[in-house]
Amino acid sequence: MQRTLSIIKPDGVSRNIIGAVVQKLEKSGLNIIAMKMIHMTRKQAEGFYVVHKERPFFASLTEFMSSGPALVMVLEGENVITRYRDLMGATNYKDAAEGTIRREFATDIEKNVVHGSDSTESAAFEIGYFFNSFEIVKYRLSEK
Ligand code: CMP
Repeated sequence: MQRTLSIIKPDGVSRNIIGAVVQKLEKSGLNIIAMKMIHMTRKQAEGFYVVHKERPFFASLTEFMSSGPALVMVLEGENVITRYRDLMGATNYKDAAEGTIRREFATDIEKNVVHGSDSTESAAFEIGYFFNSFEIVKYRLSEK
């Protein structure tokens, strides 16, 4: 069993496509075990994306990620990191496969609607960045 962090970014929230994205997660059998709306400060966005701090897009990315509310979720399932990344599609929506979230909804390489952890190590860091243990459910009724 694996966990991953999912974010519906400020572009997705402001365009009212939370429901459409969550429906894709549910239809793909990715279990949501935590969910909340946040609005990151610039500092919080910089801390979250610290691995990208030397990249040319860092300033623009952290400005965008702190520009409005975002929805953060924890997903759980077998091989969920890869399964969710496959469902998101390539970072650049132009390269994303048909049927993926980014192919369907993204408008820009930066405003690409969703984020997902890329490894078990980053998932552990990213989940801990937003959630404490009381905010993550232990199991879902269907799994009881
Ligand atoms: P995400 O999966 O959240 O990881 C880093 C983010 O940086 C990426 O999605 C995009 O929102 C943003 N970004 C902007 N420009 C680029 C780029 N040229 N390459 C990769 N990521 C970029």
